[in-house]
Amino acid sequence: MKYKVGVCQFGPKLFDIDYNLNRMKKLLEPVNADLIVLPELAASGYLFNNTKELKKMSESSRDGHTAKLFKKLAKEKNTSYVVGFAEKADDKFFNSAMLVNPDGSIFIYRKTQLFFEEKKWFEPGNTGFKIFKAKRGIQIGMMVCFDWIFPECARTLALKGAQIIAHPSNLVLPWCQQAMITRSIENRVFSITANRTGTERNAEKELTFTGMSQIINPRGEIIKRLNEFEESVDIAEIDPEEANDKKATVHNDVFTDRRTEMYEL
Ligand code: ACM
Repeated sequence: MKYKVGVCQFGPKLFDIDYNLNRMKKLLEPVNADLIVLPELAASGYLFNNTKELKKMSESSRDGHTAKLFKKLAKEKNTSYVVGFAEKADDKFFNSAMLVNPDGSIFIYRKTQLFFEEKKWFEPGNTGFKIFKAKRGIQIGMMVCFDWIFPECARTLALKGAQIIAHPSNLVLPWCQQAMITRSIENRVFSITANRTGTERNAEKELTFTGMSQIINPRGEIIKRLNEFEESVDIAEIDPEEANDKKATVHNDVFTDRRTEMYEL
């Protein structure tokens, strides 16, 4: 099956929701694809200093500004999107990702492994790792940024049947892009890491994000990788069914050869 997937990289402006939504709209409108992944916290920016700031930027997964924009785009463009957003649910705040489909369905994942000061304002995610169907029934697993450093996250998604791991990110450490090659190899899945670019400042804090968004196939080959700075959408044609074959060699299946009785996890 031919399936067009994309990764959208840009530099959100902290607390400037209108700018960020318009920027994503402008980047996405000319692009035709089946599935496109965007960065973590794409409409709000990343570098919060307190819960009050997060409260102001957070939104409902049903009818917030991010859900509204992507529902409209998904229908108009006949594309599934995965995008990170600051979720408000029952007066709790999660660092979440939503999968939005052309038929209007929306599925949510809440970041399991919070990074650094995120622990001060976000609740640890409580959704667990589930598989959802994107356009044409392709099996999508979502994780958000720092989930990458815990191999259990990608493993759980792959064992549950993910063909593509959609990975909205705001990366600041230097290792993730290389590590995700391994996540793809050890699980024989596609991974799409959508990172952001740019530097954010808030009071005396400053963070620079590493770009280099990428699409990796189940053999760990880099199909697409952007540079550290560019703002664009890159598209690749893949066959998601390649992820159903878990054989690393004719004698080695990375799922059925697992010797779980030997592991102490
Ligand atoms: C991160 O989890 N945003 C580094």
